[in-house]
Amino acid sequence: MNAVDLEARIPNNVGLKDDKKLLRALEQWQPRFLDWWREMGPSDFREDQIYLRTAVGVGQGGWANFDYVKMPDYRWGIFLAEPEPEKKIHFGDKLGDPVWDAVPGEHRNVLRRIIVTQADTEPASVEQQRLLGHTAPSLYDLRNVFQVNVEEGRHLWAMVYLLHKYFGADGRDEAEELLRRRSGHADNPRILQAFNKPTPDWLSFFCFTSFTDRDGKYQLAALAESGFYPLARSTQFMLTEEAHHLSVGENGVGRVVERTAQLMKEGTDPRTVGAIPLDIIQKYVYEWSSASYDLFGGEDSSNAATYFGAGLKGRYREGDGLYRDPKALEQAYTTQVAEGTALRTLEIPLRRAMNALLLEAYYADCKRIVDRWNRTLKRYDVAAEVKLPSLRFNRQQGIHAGKWYDPEGNPIAQAEFEKRRTTWFPSAEDYATVKSCMKKVYEPGKIANWIAPPAQGINNNPFEWEYVKFH
Ligand SMILES: [Fe+2]
Ligand SMILES: [Fe+2]
Repeated sequence: MNAVDLEARIPNNVGLKDDKKLLRALEQWQPRFLDWWREMGPSDFREDQIYLRTAVGVGQGGWANFDYVKMPDYRWGIFLAEPEPEKKIHFGDKLGDPVWDAVPGEHRNVLRRIIVTQADTEPASVEQQRLLGHTAPSLYDLRNVFQVNVEEGRHLWAMVYLLHKYFGADGRDEAEELLRRRSGHADNPRILQAFNKPTPDWLSFFCFTSFTDRDGKYQLAALAESGFYPLARSTQFMLTEEAHHLSVGENGVGRVVERTAQLMKEGTDPRTVGAIPLDIIQKYVYEWSSASYDLFGGEDSSNAATYFGAGLKGRYREGDGLYRDPKALEQAYTTQVAEGTALRTLEIPLRRAMNALLLEAYYADCKRIVDRWNRTLKRYDVAAEVKLPSLRFNRQQGIHAGKWYDPEGNPIAQAEFEKRRTTWFPSAEDYATVKSCMKKVYEPGKIANWIAPPAQGINNNPFEWEYVKFH
């Protein structure tokens, strides 16, 4: 384990100063990253002091060092979690072999693809969120979106380090491409579709961090099991930062729901006071959750089987002994798929169903947060509930693509789906309603009318704290 070098131009615990060639390559990439940040990171706010946390070590609490910093001066570093001694591969065909500290030649292309796909989501989300600062509902929220942005930038660093160190010239080319693609660009878009979706307002942002970032958590968790140990250790550390992004989303939607519930209980129509009605919140949930289901890839996937067999990507918490067959050769995964307007049972050999298993673990987590939002509604005596759609709903990838279901997962005719589309997904008018609520509130302790204040501030400070000091 290398010591943490915080004084270096690129803070790190990977012994960069002893690898001159790598150091030089990353120091050349650094100004290009900063150019990208200035062009595609948060627009404006460059001179303002933001109360941010910066990772300074990987031990207990090392990731939670808070101070005021200007975003372009943020110390983006490279940190790997501490290695376990004598670590063995704990699933797949190589079960029991020592983990790899270099890329096995036969898996080189596949591993590069996995890392690039993960890496591409990190700058993509920063691009998606670049204008949100201008309409932040409070200083607390303004600080939170910037925190998410700088950490996604650090995640890009984490993946670019792996590309540079382990993948030679190909890896360096990929690192350049990561700064060239643009979210939503017609000719050079980001790799995954949900990362090309516009995130035009804060309800979209909170849905993104609830559902899309949560996919990120599950992908990172599967990679944290990897037999390619530098990747496992890198993603393990990323997960500690990711947890905050998910809480921003879960609490964010929860606070919107709470404000709407307060108004409903008073008998006030949210629309008349610049707040967001429950039916629009529901449509956003349908939209963002179903788009995020697609990020898991096909439920029946030969690639997923290959990744698992090779020991590259495990199941969720594979190392915690939750699964009785670490080779996943014996069982099948059973699910249901539409045939006409009925459902038929489909059996998938377990190894080919790894994406489906990860998606199910993710779904249970989404269910938990939606249940929490519904407890808030109940607390305010609102009879309606927010519904999480079935995993079959509105899919463009996998076994349900090209089939039609209602949000409960019942097969329906395509014409029926089209007819009900506007009742399920936000219309232009709904987006306009939400947009009309988005007015910046930059005074400490004040908050916009469409969202409730958080139960807690950041780092034990109150909500009223001055989280952003404008220059
Ligand atoms: Fe990330
Ligand atoms: Fe994230």
